[in-house]
Amino acid sequence: MSRPTENLQTIRLGMLGCGVVGGGLVKLLAKHRADFRANGFELRLTHLAVRDPGKSRGVDLAGVRISTDPMAVATDPEIDLLVEVMGGNSIAVEAGCAALARGVPLVSANKCGLARSMGRYVEAAAQGGAGIGFEAAAAAHIPIIEVLDRSLACEELSLVKGVINGSTNYILTFMERAGCEYEEALKDAASKGFTEADPTLDVEGIDAAEKLSLLAYKAFGTHVPPDQVHTEGITRVGQVDIRLALEMDHRIKLVAAARRGEEGLSLRVHPALVHHGELLADVDSEFNAIILEGPGFKELTFLGKGAGELPTASAVLNDVVKLAQRPQAGALPGFRRAGAKLPLADTANLRLCYFLRMQVEAPRVNDALTALAGQGVRALSHAQVEHAGANYLGVITDVIEESRMMAALSGISGLDGTGGVRLIRLDKDNYRDIVEREQSSYFGSSIER
Ligand SMILES: NC(=O)c1ccc[n+]([C@@H]2O[C@H](COP(=O)([O-])OP(=O)(O)OC[C@H]3O[C@@H](n4cnc5c(N)ncnc54)[C@H](OP(=O)(O)O)[C@@H]3O)[C@@H](O)[C@H]2O)c1
Repeated sequence: MSRPTENLQTIRLGMLGCGVVGGGLVKLLAKHRADFRANGFELRLTHLAVRDPGKSRGVDLAGVRISTDPMAVATDPEIDLLVEVMGGNSIAVEAGCAALARGVPLVSANKCGLARSMGRYVEAAAQGGAGIGFEAAAAAHIPIIEVLDRSLACEELSLVKGVINGSTNYILTFMERAGCEYEEALKDAASKGFTEADPTLDVEGIDAAEKLSLLAYKAFGTHVPPDQVHTEGITRVGQVDIRLALEMDHRIKLVAAARRGEEGLSLRVHPALVHHGELLADVDSEFNAIILEGPGFKELTFLGKGAGELPTASAVLNDVVKLAQRPQAGALPGFRRAGAKLPLADTANLRLCYFLRMQVEAPRVNDALTALAGQGVRALSHAQVEHAGANYLGVITDVIEESRMMAALSGISGLDGTGGVRLIRLDKDNYRDIVEREQSSYFGSSIER
């Protein structure tokens, strides 16, 4: 039975930005009007800030006051809730914090501002006693912040890992399917609208590092700003890497991972070889996936669309509805995890498996493997492919400390016909354990003991 629609509470929304996400939100506000009324309230967009008020936006903004001053919207005494879908780490943050500090709840899709200025948001929210919803900023349509903040509030987590950038996933998938190099795949992604005009944030891993910072904050209660996340993009992944990885039953993905270990917290974004048997290996094109691990529940996985007009606007709207009904209900401050801030683990001390690629003439492959062993690098598996008239050797190593691997790299660089050995980390920390425990065919008959 729906509630009576008389005595509707009107919640006046201010909004900063009306581009892809903001435009989508305006459409969804109209579409769900009856749902809001059935729950005793209505949402009315009353004040909007954009850069160019004259621009045609293809959405109905009748009756909405439009300005070019985000701060005027944030400080408007006649708004009850602020939506920030503008982006950036300066004026958007100032305006969002100004609204929060005077008790106006904020819904933000701005991963850059939130990940870089988290402390300011938390302070402003505490000052005004209002909440912040930021589901759309982390993985758009995957409701992972709600899960971390509420459903798993009292679970111990050891790992949050995922493929959380759709543009790079599209590019890597295209490279694999079309057999082309990175530049051609980037052009195709741009022509289909899967990248921004400036793709740097996506392809250099910065977008994924911002999202990982937000996920780790909710998972572990420690804020690690994106510039402290070990970040490598996909621009150096070559067709030969993809082919060698496939030969050894792996695919290359841009993986973001936050892990709590004995030494503290490590946050990393980098291309990684993912075995065919793993869920992340099957996440293609613009899809995102997130895996959570913890001793109490072992593993949970989430798959969905991590960007786009309606998936993102829908995540914004769900937060708006939550905060409209309970202004303190945001994921910030949300459920706080007690305990000291976790220290950051030194990447040099991480113990991982690695993929190495080098140009070696076929008759010299055994010499190369012997030379690797001489440097303390044990090969678990290897493969060769012919590419552009040269023979390439790919090797998956046993677990080795990152600092030792880096030292060994300089010792083996002479093995490569061109003098440059390429290194890509594996997604799993220890493939040998998996192989031995499950007696699976991860490395087929080529596992070298
Ligand atoms: N697009 C996605 O799939 C997606 C997914 C997750 C999160 N997000 C986040 O959502 C936010 C918005 O993304 P979007 O794709 O909607 O961006 P967008 O299409 O570029 O829209 C940005 C909007 O902000 C306005 N704006 C920018 N600077 C302004 C300023 N100084 N003063 C007033 N208005 C200003 C622009 O006005 P004009 O229109 O007049 O230029 C535009 O309406 C970003 O933080 C983004 O990271 C986006």
